[in-house]
Amino acid sequence: MQGLPLSFVDVEKTFHIKGQALTVFEQLTLDCPGGSFTALLGPSGCGKSTLLRLALELETADAGSILVGDERPSAARKTGAVGVAFQDAALLPWRNVEDNILLPFQVLGTKPPDPEHIGKLIRLVGLEGFEKARPEELSGGMRQRVAIARSLATEPRVLLMDEPFGALDLILRRQMNLELQRIWSAARPTTLLITHGVDEAVYLADRVIVLSARPAEILADITIPFARPRAPELLRDPQFHKLCDEIGAYLEPQQNQTEA
Ligand SMILES: Nc1ncnc2c1ncn2[C@@H]1O[C@H](COP(=O)(O)OP(=O)(O)OP(=O)(O)O)[C@@H](O)[C@H]1O
Ligand SMILES: [Mg+2]
Repeated sequence: MQGLPLSFVDVEKTFHIKGQALTVFEQLTLDCPGGSFTALLGPSGCGKSTLLRLALELETADAGSILVGDERPSAARKTGAVGVAFQDAALLPWRNVEDNILLPFQVLGTKPPDPEHIGKLIRLVGLEGFEKARPEELSGGMRQRVAIARSLATEPRVLLMDEPFGALDLILRRQMNLELQRIWSAARPTTLLITHGVDEAVYLADRVIVLSARPAEILADITIPFARPRAPELLRDPQFHKLCDEIGAYLEPQQNQTEA
């Protein structure tokens, strides 16, 4: 099943806090074709998580349209087509690992998958033996891995991930990158990955988008030329480093930029 296209057209979003207007997007347009892998980079506070929340309809845009396939995000979510891993793992503290991974099925009101499917997801994120553990008994990185397993549980056609590997050490992060590449190549969900890691973005994505500081605009839209599957050796390739440096330059503080 091919991923569904995800599109943001002329999206505007302003938050109002204590009488102060804070404009995050003035007119943002971003089109993620079905089955593509897009990584989103940008300075802290520029609006990356807000974009993801808009794509889930957890926030409402003031203007513009957001579509998953040809449906509104809320409609697409009701069919289990959208998987999400939030920036904080967002696990239910009173539920064990297995039950947290099963949550999307309960929210959707659909039949839970057979235990083998859940077992596979738990093995995928390396949490065998912790099936019955509650979040408080896990490390931050382990909690994040539960959230990743949960985001994949419904075999989504659109996968939204907000810094999913931020809490992991480098080795585990590399392993999870390889796993994500494998999952994406097999099922081709349309993936939007928010990350602060330029190397992670270049290693995983077909396309890297760099957002500016608020109000966020697309500063750069870069096609990643490396063939797939991408072996870990790519991380040592001079061409890879050159591209990372070019992209990294967009993230350096801009002159005359004031940070709120
Ligand atoms: N619900 C909200 N109410 C008011 N302001 C908000 C809300 N959500 C986000 N903001 C503001 O919108 C801006 C963008 O926030 P957002 O979380 O999208 O940034 P981000 O790019 O994900 O940053 P980071 O890289 O630090 O996670 C910030 O200035 C934040 O204070
Ligand atoms: Mg964020």
